Amino acid sequence: MFSESPIGIYDSGVGGLSVLRAIRDALPHESLLYVADSAHVPYGEKTREYVERRAGALADYFVSRQAKAMVVACNTATAAAIAPLRQRHPGLLIIGVEPAIKPAAHLTHSGVVGVFATTGTLASPKFAALIQREAPEVRILFRPCPEWVRLVERGVLHGPEAEAAVRAPVAELREAGADVLVLGCTHFPFLRDAIQAAAGPGVPLLETGAPVARRLRHQLQERGLLRAGGPGALRLETSGAAGSLGGLASRLLGQALAADTLPERWR
Ligand code: SIN
Repeated sequence: MFSESPIGIYDSGVGGLSVLRAIRDALPHESLLYVADSAHVPYGEKTREYVERRAGALADYFVSRQAKAMVVACNTATAAAIAPLRQRHPGLLIIGVEPAIKPAAHLTHSGVVGVFATTGTLASPKFAALIQREAPEVRILFRPCPEWVRLVERGVLHGPEAEAAVRAPVAELREAGADVLVLGCTHFPFLRDAIQAAAGPGVPLLETGAPVARRLRHQLQERGLLRAGGPGALRLETSGAAGSLGGLASRLLGQALAADTLPERWR
């Protein structure tokens, strides 16, 4: 693996593009290979074994493409599979995402933090350990929002349908005293406008893209694997329909993009 090798970024669908966006800002010279496991989205309601199997297959794929790092840009897959992935590929730099509990614990004045994520993330031992470690004194309220993942996958980000979907969950946690809200799924930053409108203008909405990009940059630097030179390439692949991913990614990232189908062995 070399500094010229791509960085593999993976999510169940398009949510990880919110992390990719931060990585492109922090590391504009890196070539990125984004894989959306769209044939298997959503992960949030699936078993841990299922998600672990898919994450393992996609780690194998990135290794076959000589990726120098894998970013698991999916909270559910990180919660289910990050440890087994590191055992499976000890030589590969693997970075996961987790809900921004630590900064939320610092920001809250009411001592109550609200977390939106999938059932898979919220029910995981990793999430329980994160709260215990980073916010033992804070009251954490959480709300699974699998319907938000489906909205983003359909490209519904604004307007009456998005506003109606976020209204009740946000009101529930705000009325229970949460003054900081954590977006614990990488799909949710794409609903930020609707969530902010429901929460009120001063309420911090915390996501994980920028900290993950900083951690990735630091780890690549330590290993001497940062790429120099011109802008890095961006390639999108999916286990689902390439046309749908291309169209949606173009909207989400604000540039015309095409996608390809993942080779059959990894679908
Ligand atoms: C999902 O596929 O349900 C969303 C995964 C996540 O980012 O947690």
